[in-house]
Amino acid sequence: MNANDVRTKFLERLEKSGHKIIAPATLKLENDPTTLFTGSGMQPLMPYLLGEKHEGGARLVNSQPCFRSQDITDIGDNRHTTFFEMLGNWSLGDYFKEFQIRQFFDFLTKDLRLNPNKIYATCFIGDEEHGIPRDNEAAEIWQKVFKEAGVSADIADIGTAKDGDKRGIKDGERIFFYNDKENWWSRAGDIKSTPIGDPCGPDSEVFYDFGEAAHDPSFGKAHPASDSGRFMEIGNQVFMQYRRLPDGSFEELKQKNVDFGGGLERIAAACIDSADVFKTSLFTPIIKELEQLSKTKYSDYRAEMRVIADHLRASVFLVSGGLTPSNKEHGYVLRRLCRRAILKAGKLGLKDNFFAKIVPIVAQIYQDSYPELTAKQQEIIAVLTREETQFNKTLARGLKEFAKAASKANLTGAQVFTLQDTFGFPLELSLEVAEEQGIKLAADWQTEFDAKLQEQRERSQTATKGMFKGGLADDSDLTIKYHTAAHLLGAALNQVLKTDAAQRGSNITAERLRFDFTYDNKLTPEQISAVEKLVNDWLDADLPVSHAEFDTDYAFETLHAHGVFRDKYGDKVVVYTIGEGDNIISREICGGPHVSHTGEILEAGRFKITKEESSSAGVRRIKAILV
Ligand code: ALA
Repeated sequence: MNANDVRTKFLERLEKSGHKIIAPATLKLENDPTTLFTGSGMQPLMPYLLGEKHEGGARLVNSQPCFRSQDITDIGDNRHTTFFEMLGNWSLGDYFKEFQIRQFFDFLTKDLRLNPNKIYATCFIGDEEHGIPRDNEAAEIWQKVFKEAGVSADIADIGTAKDGDKRGIKDGERIFFYNDKENWWSRAGDIKSTPIGDPCGPDSEVFYDFGEAAHDPSFGKAHPASDSGRFMEIGNQVFMQYRRLPDGSFEELKQKNVDFGGGLERIAAACIDSADVFKTSLFTPIIKELEQLSKTKYSDYRAEMRVIADHLRASVFLVSGGLTPSNKEHGYVLRRLCRRAILKAGKLGLKDNFFAKIVPIVAQIYQDSYPELTAKQQEIIAVLTREETQFNKTLARGLKEFAKAASKANLTGAQVFTLQDTFGFPLELSLEVAEEQGIKLAADWQTEFDAKLQEQRERSQTATKGMFKGGLADDSDLTIKYHTAAHLLGAALNQVLKTDAAQRGSNITAERLRFDFTYDNKLTPEQISAVEKLVNDWLDADLPVSHAEFDTDYAFETLHAHGVFRDKYGDKVVVYTIGEGDNIISREICGGPHVSHTGEILEAGRFKITKEESSSAGVRRIKAILV
């Protein structure tokens, strides 16, 4: 039984019992301030769990692609993944505990033919402070169901997961009561954190026993809610019968709902009786390709290959949903995934671009259930390869500097700052590389780093004052990138319009740039694309950006540098040059700050003109963003 069969059988079973198959939501979650991504099947169904009528009726089912970015640093073990599919079914005030527990148990033991002796269940122990009773009802249903399957099922009270680590489980025990940290479900976690207004309730989780061999005793004794590896959660049945009120208390909902979610990857792992989800059909083709490309073995590089496989699979889904790597929110998470995958690939000796080889394999795995991955394959490859190439460059440059800096003693805050400021090697990456290479950071690195950052801010504010009227709105990393992009835009306009389209002023923030220049006509769409293409080509070319001070006359007459305020300059000016040798793209009199290589701008995205309009007579205005 492979993962595709598991998904099909689940949907078929539920459809037969009157559930309407509903379309999954997009991974990028709209209108939910609590999270950037869809992390469970119920998130898009909130209004219906609170009583609104759903057009599909009171029984719903789907397989929802989910992404949990909080799990990024957990990846590398046998069961965590950032992206996963959640098989979900819902009763909106229709059936309740008995029907749900039975249907899931039957799905596992009849449809998937899992051994009922390997299945364990947990229930909510109750919470006096909030007036929520112990869920004896669920435990009794479980007992009945197990008994009918000929499996003995004693009930045990555990309490917290830590209590369980000490106590373990005793012969015959199969149903366990835990507190709210384990068996209470809301979008935010334990009972005290339940968001006001949210539907929530006790849950009953289902675990598969992978046996003693999968148990890591360093976590204490084995029991369902421990992290010791022997038991893996394969399904969670939430009995959504409460709603949190503004005073912190809980009211019973008129409509008693069931919200079931089960990780497809984990259920598929149970079907092959392997505690390693990366051995399921959803991952094996990727792992095999990584083995071949790197000429290494999964058994020697488990953690690395798991990270790469997980992160690339997730990236493929995110890009297929329309995201591109950037420095903000969703795009930044995607960027982190790509970077972490590349860092781990380095450990396998995989240095060349390899994303393009993995994307088609992911598309193939999902060709039946997610044909859009195959349809968009080329586009996905283009987006991810661009990011990969760009990051490989930053990495090569940064790693050299990193090795130099770290070879002497502990890495200082000033060094980490220089790596970021000069070499485009972000702080977070320095921390990751330091950890991987066992390099220690000086005790006061953070204070020193923050001080340097502050210094640089103050310095660049002074440098830009007077130079740009209403110029740089702030000098964050992004603004600096926009600033350099504005110089490139000026140069591109000159080339495309074949004029010296004198810049009349610019206004730059961390979100966009605005650029005014002298020109009489509206730009044609062809001219706009040509300008965009030129700028993006220069970003790809990763040209160096340098600056030096010159006599003002020399700067204008000999270097032909551009300057907006010719008559306001003193005897000396600073000229920023983009490019080198006989490939000089732009020379501008400017106070900076700028990136050190144009490729760094790609970290914020590619250059795109969003508007071209008249600003005043003979002056055009362009607005552009990095996306
Ligand atoms: N909403 C429940 C979960 O995510 C099913 O575990």
